[in-house]
Amino acid sequence: MPRLLVIIMKVLFLTSNKNKVIEANQTLSKLGYEVEQFLIEGVAPKIVEPQSSKIEIVSEYKIQQALELISGTDFESHALLVEDSGLFIKSLNDFPGVYSSYFSETIGNQGILKLLLNEESRDAEYRAFSIMYSDGKYFHALGKCLGRISNEIKGSNGFGYDPIFIPNSGDGRTFGEMEDYEKESKSHRGESLRILYDKLSLPSK
Ligand code: IMP
Repeated sequence: MPRLLVIIMKVLFLTSNKNKVIEANQTLSKLGYEVEQFLIEGVAPKIVEPQSSKIEIVSEYKIQQALELISGTDFESHALLVEDSGLFIKSLNDFPGVYSSYFSETIGNQGILKLLLNEESRDAEYRAFSIMYSDGKYFHALGKCLGRISNEIKGSNGFGYDPIFIPNSGDGRTFGEMEDYEKESKSHRGESLRILYDKLSLPSK
């Protein structure tokens, strides 16, 4: 009986957010990739983020830093992944956007609900811009997830703004109330990684 040789390709994800690594693995592992957090001596290297209001520009900086970090190391042949993402709330002029991480850690989900108390529109979207570097080539992908901000915090799955974000493609539950696989099938990150994968050729078998 002929044996099928499946080649698993390792991808190093430069991020300090372990949840992103888990989510990237959910999408890319089905496609023959094994995503690992990029660590140096067990620690995620610090990424310097530029002053920019665009996730695309922040991601470009991240991939350049990742390339500098692996240059001359044993990991030079590995594929690299970076991503910048955020929550963009319409009635707040796209706040917190690229500053999502900072505001999630400071004012948190309660703070966002407070800011929206007198706003009619609760429309929002998550965006993720991923860049993969593989075999000397760059692959870019923007994923979006349209939705709205809930009236209260619901659920404890996911991370960050998930307990207050209700995707339009769902059944009214927040991402915080969904199983990982449900979020992955609807999320901005899932979409951007699927687009990335479509741009990459299938790994040889
Ligand atoms: P980054 O690491 O600079 O890209 O920060 C992204 C921030 O946006 C995160 O720290 C979260 O606050 C928020 N964010 C992005 N994607 C998600 C998500 O899938 N769920 C919840 N919060 C998210």
